[in-house]
Amino acid sequence: MKSIIISTDITVYESGTELSKADQELVKACKEACQKAYAPYSGFNVGAAIRLANGVIVKGNNQENAAYPSGLCAERVAMFYANSVYPDVAVEAIAVVAMNDKGILESPVAPCGSCRQVLLETEIRMKQQFYTLLVGAVEIYKINSSSELLPISFTGQGLKRKK
Ligand code: THU
Repeated sequence: MKSIIISTDITVYESGTELSKADQELVKACKEACQKAYAPYSGFNVGAAIRLANGVIVKGNNQENAAYPSGLCAERVAMFYANSVYPDVAVEAIAVVAMNDKGILESPVAPCGSCRQVLLETEIRMKQQFYTLLVGAVEIYKINSSSELLPISFTGQGLKRKK
């Protein structure tokens, strides 16, 4: 028997001003997206902003629905949009923030498992790692790759049948 230890390296920024100018802009963009979320059922607004290798910033937010499972998280709205419009352009970074009626959550928001799965597939597809900024009211967490956000992941290996 043996044990495997998996660790995630998280850089904690104690204020947004510690970020690079480009990342400050990305954080601003995810907050703007958050304001425009459609979340009448949960009252939990989430915004995501993605910076692509071509410099374009793509924004998305959660879109809820009266048929609850029909809604979609902010990260996937943004990532699917980015991948649909720029299928060959790698992602450099994604920033995510969440707000309720009291404002931005104190602890940096944690993406759900399905969103982590989608972020990871983009990383694999583009053959390029990107970092995630999880934005809280004061602190911001930076995680260097989606594989660190989703360890022991399902990558589809073994799905394709040999000819
Ligand atoms: N939500 C996101 O948009 N991203 C996440 O990573 C977690 C949850 C949304 C889904 C739903 O509209 C609301 O937050 C409450 O779960």
